[in-house]
Amino acid sequence: MTARYVAAIDQGTSSTRCIIYDRGGVMVSVAQRKHTQHFPQPGWVEHDALEIWKLVQRLIPEALRNGGIEADQLVGLGITNQRETTVIWDPTTGIPLHRAIVWQDTRTTDKVEELRAQGVAADAEHRTGAPLSNYFSAPRLSWMLDACAGSRAAAEQGRVLFGTMDTWLVWNLTGGVDGGLHVTDPTNASRTMLMNIETAQWDPTLLEVFDIPAAILPEIRPSMSRVGTTATPVAGIPITAMIGDQQAALVGQTALRAGESKYTLGTGGFLLFNTGTTLVRSRSGLITTVAFQSDGQPIRYALEGSNPTAGALVEWIRQNLGIIATPAEIETLASTVTDNGGCYIVPAFSGLHAPHWVSGSRGLIVGLTSYITRGHLARAALETNAFAAAAMVTAVNDDLAAAGVETSLTELVVDGGMTANNTMMQMIADMCDVPVTRPQMAEAVALGAAYAAGLTVGLWTDEQQLRRNWRAAAVWKPDVDPADRERRLANWSAAVRLASQWSPV
Ligand code: G3P
Repeated sequence: MTARYVAAIDQGTSSTRCIIYDRGGVMVSVAQRKHTQHFPQPGWVEHDALEIWKLVQRLIPEALRNGGIEADQLVGLGITNQRETTVIWDPTTGIPLHRAIVWQDTRTTDKVEELRAQGVAADAEHRTGAPLSNYFSAPRLSWMLDACAGSRAAAEQGRVLFGTMDTWLVWNLTGGVDGGLHVTDPTNASRTMLMNIETAQWDPTLLEVFDIPAAILPEIRPSMSRVGTTATPVAGIPITAMIGDQQAALVGQTALRAGESKYTLGTGGFLLFNTGTTLVRSRSGLITTVAFQSDGQPIRYALEGSNPTAGALVEWIRQNLGIIATPAEIETLASTVTDNGGCYIVPAFSGLHAPHWVSGSRGLIVGLTSYITRGHLARAALETNAFAAAAMVTAVNDDLAAAGVETSLTELVVDGGMTANNTMMQMIADMCDVPVTRPQMAEAVALGAAYAAGLTVGLWTDEQQLRRNWRAAAVWKPDVDPADRERRLANWSAAVRLASQWSPV
């Protein structure tokens, strides 16, 4: 019998990958390419959506070739993506009207503050489960419709389409100008601030608040469902999952049940705690988000803590400060010192996210003295992820307790490229005061998209088959004096307060 495989396209913030997996969840082929990051002004971040689509057109055939696999051996394709990044395009030409505005972009801070001043925040937050912030797609979409002359009127007549990256890729993969499907899933839709978190439908009140024509929006389909079939670059592959990248990592870690969680460290750091069919409203500054939806099944929810600048800080140190040549070198540099020397970095490049939500804040470095070396800066940079995680863990447990949920977060299961950094894993265990576990398959995003695609078509028939693929590779236990932990967390909180008060004229 011919072997059957599933493929995942992981369209991330810095690169796009096509990975093919076998039934054992083993990666059999991978093709990967980076795309250009555009920073046209301070706080602005853009991607060229056409450049990304051209990469995807090369990556699928390349991955098939690398693995010696025929297209008809692929029983499913899962699409996972950087969330909130916003694209609008003309469906008759397939050309975007503007460069995609990336989830890290802060240009809509004023728009968000205007809406807050109008008193719409509490209602919008209740409808979406998310804090009113420049992080989500709606303010950026509204900004784009203002910036591209005539686009709002054209959108009303269906002559402009909106999508997050999942929607953009599926529209192109299923035929583009020749009848491409205009669809998304509830995980991605929940990040637009236009979807009602209870009904998982677009919310007319939110469309009015953000001044968005309904005709521009894609249809919301379950995350795991038979979406359609590719027309190009390789025809006939069934697309059987669409899921935001952080939710995909939850599936890849097999954290499919209420009470299970994961912390992914990529460009940003994202902790998701699965609350099952219970929608837990956060009182502690977390996002209530959709975890996933299987076809014909109720929505599964999660609480999410997000820190937008994790790997992005290391990349900034490499590229803009030049004190390391590769991201991995930050660990070596951090190991030249035994502590941060009193130096703290708050990497609020995209404002402060969970649990603070200060859209207009900027990053800072505090505690500088002549004593501080490159090693201390490297150490302080890694520690930001431990401090951010500690705030998220506390917020999750506070929210669960307030909601009367009996489980709590007692262990952090991590994934993502940055988790290869053992020094940082120990810091996270120390500051969160819980054990940190890294599985053997630490690239959970693409794996989760492949699992989602394979579950839809019955390549795997029950989650136990997936759980058997999960094996712990390393565990870090908290190993710090509690008084020292409290002191460092207090210093971090003080630094965050300073960053949130920073308001340049
Ligand atoms: O919300 C943004 C997130 O989806 C980006 O993920 O993997 O590119 O850091 P990543």
